[in-house]
Amino acid sequence: MKLSPFDYTGPLPAERVTGRDELVDDLIERVTARRPTALLGPRRFGKTSVLTKIAADLTEITTVTIDLMPVQSPHDAVRALMAALLDADAVVAAQAESISATLGFNIAVLRGELRATRRSQQPDPTVAFSNLIDTLVKVALDRPTLIVFDEFQQIAAIDNGTAVLRTALQHHYKDVGLLFAGSQPSAMRDIFANPTQPFLFQADIVEIGPLSLGAVVDLIADGFRRTERTPGAVASLIHEFTGGHPLRTMQAAHAAWQHADDDRADQRWGEALSSLRTAAQPAVSGLYEQLATDRQKVLRLVASARPLFGVEADQLRLSTGGAQHARDRLLAEAHLADRNGQLALVDPFLADWLRRERPVG
Ligand SMILES: Nc1ncnc2c1ncn2[C@@H]1O[C@H](COP(=O)(O)OP(=O)(O)OP(=O)(O)O)[C@@H](O)[C@H]1O
Ligand SMILES: [Mg+2]
Repeated sequence: MKLSPFDYTGPLPAERVTGRDELVDDLIERVTARRPTALLGPRRFGKTSVLTKIAADLTEITTVTIDLMPVQSPHDAVRALMAALLDADAVVAAQAESISATLGFNIAVLRGELRATRRSQQPDPTVAFSNLIDTLVKVALDRPTLIVFDEFQQIAAIDNGTAVLRTALQHHYKDVGLLFAGSQPSAMRDIFANPTQPFLFQADIVEIGPLSLGAVVDLIADGFRRTERTPGAVASLIHEFTGGHPLRTMQAAHAAWQHADDDRADQRWGEALSSLRTAAQPAVSGLYEQLATDRQKVLRLVASARPLFGVEADQLRLSTGGAQHARDRLLAEAHLADRNGQLALVDPFLADWLRRERPVG
């Protein structure tokens, strides 16, 4: 039994990141020119995979990645910095240790304190965060370094996190590569484009979009060839269905591949699609049920390509104000995207489920 060539379980390893050449080249150029950049895109659009590829391609530069994804508290933010400094790269860890000593604190002791179960033994996270940020910046100044903050919007979990970071970095924008990635567009824009925020205009914003049809065709051709199966024209069917949403494309490619063990994948696409629908149903319907009613109505209208302010909205008893508010929240949380002035659901599986189970008009 062959293993599926289509992986949808987490960030891709650098050598599997395809279809992102333009974006990767652009980001590498920005890092090389020391232009701080924020990479924005919805969940599961391949941000972390692109960052991994950039780190692997920049062989002359050390990359330190701070993963803020799990951060919900100030202590979590301290833990994330600690992990980035001590766990990823032995050279970085040694440097962090000696720099922290010159700054007057013991990073190993701090780590021990973070694990303390008694509240009185826990370190003050604000002080620890500030010390670790200073250490990080000094480590980065020692030799060519790229600092990556993934899920940067989570920095809001620590009071004045962005201000502390800005103070540490302000004289060094030309000395250190800086990339910030995030999946909450409104929170990220707030950090980089809101006049009251300390990072105002400190980074260019670059968006990660869906995979192009060409990228999907290449990805699928390559995976099928490596495993000696025949795709036929299934890549176009998949792109038509997913719109190039990276995770959904991989899941669809996997389903198509599974159904093609003794037949061309395009001839079995109907079965692959129904298995995808069955597998996705609990998650997409669960997500939908958790949303407030006005947001549900807006999603139904958009999925069925109906206007938010029209007969169908009236039938759904959706007021103009309610529709506007719900739309703005859905855009902020990246459930909806604005594609050339047209609203679209980000998740093609949710859109498909809505059209089938909650049609409008
Ligand atoms: N270049 C790519 N080509 C094909 N599929 C991709 C690509 N990049 C990502 N994917 C698919 O999307 C999934 C999620 O990728 P990744 O974790 O990099 O996204 P992310 O935007 O960082 O997601 P999250 O919001 O969970 O942090 C991968 O498991 C893979 O299936
Ligand atoms: Mg990610």
